[in-house]
Amino acid sequence: MRDLIATRGVDLPGRERPRRLRANGALRTLVRETRLASAALVAPLFVVSGRGRREEISSLRGHARLSPDLALAEAHRLAGLGVGGVLLFGIPDAKDHYGHAAADPDGPVSETLRRLKAEKLPLALVADVCLCEYTTHGHCGVLEGELVDNDATLPLLADAAIAYAEAGADIVAPSAMMDGQVAALRSGLDGAGFTGAAIMAYASKHASTFYSPFREAAGSTPSFGDRKSYQMDPANGREALREMELDAQEGADILMVKPAITSLDLIARARDRFDLPLAAYQVSGEAAMIEAAAARGWIDRRSAILETLTAIVRAGAGNVMTYFASDVATWLKETA
Ligand code: PBG
Repeated sequence: MRDLIATRGVDLPGRERPRRLRANGALRTLVRETRLASAALVAPLFVVSGRGRREEISSLRGHARLSPDLALAEAHRLAGLGVGGVLLFGIPDAKDHYGHAAADPDGPVSETLRRLKAEKLPLALVADVCLCEYTTHGHCGVLEGELVDNDATLPLLADAAIAYAEAGADIVAPSAMMDGQVAALRSGLDGAGFTGAAIMAYASKHASTFYSPFREAAGSTPSFGDRKSYQMDPANGREALREMELDAQEGADILMVKPAITSLDLIARARDRFDLPLAAYQVSGEAAMIEAAAARGWIDRRSAILETLTAIVRAGAGNVMTYFASDVATWLKETA
């Protein structure tokens, strides 16, 4: 063999042999740079009114719309697994043109928050703040004709955030991509006495095709047009950094980037540029791609989930919203 190498005139590597530390599992584990932690993961939960109500979501394997009592049971299970938090989305009984139900103190999100708060679970309670699940037209803001009226939307978002803070949310997460939404929430919350409620801004949010499964889950597909006049063009990275800068200035406590896998460059750049906690959202379509390929036997489900989440954390995300929070926490517990 040596002769063969010599006759071919192949140059052998010198002292640098990175493969040394890949020789066995113990060495690879020892030098691993990125480790997933259950406590850094946040599980999305979809809540509806009623009791004992559970509606499977066909586009999101393993997820269901839950009434507050069942959401509570699910939160107990997630807390037991060591998951860091839950992110609540509400689907109201009735929608209207303005999405008023978003701020209903008796709506499913507020009710679930109140009950969760009383349980004192070791979970961060996060509430998504947007109008799209609550408007008849499915847009994230108030419509003036066919246009979304930015400034008319802000007080409605602030009202919803106040209702959730009042019900017990630790963190409110505005996702409507209205200009000034973080400042509007901050002044609304402070004015109502909720100075302690934190804001996680969906700061860099592209108009992505990967939200489609979520819209089936939340019944929030726009009845006409698309979200491109408020969510960002996926082609834009500098604009994303500017959005994050603005949200930081407006008082965001945590910056979030979504989708995650298509924004690894932005996660890495944001991590260098801002000293706020940085989160990423592995959105519904990212999960659906993995589930669909795994169901066909084309990829290994567990490996794909762990590899994508590890890459998101490696890029710089300190927290990840993911539909796989429960799976990952279960696996981490098994291997601990
Ligand atoms: C509400 C909202 C959406 C998501 C999070 N908050 C939907 C959208 O913007 O259309 C997407 C989450 C996911 O796809 O998992 N505006």
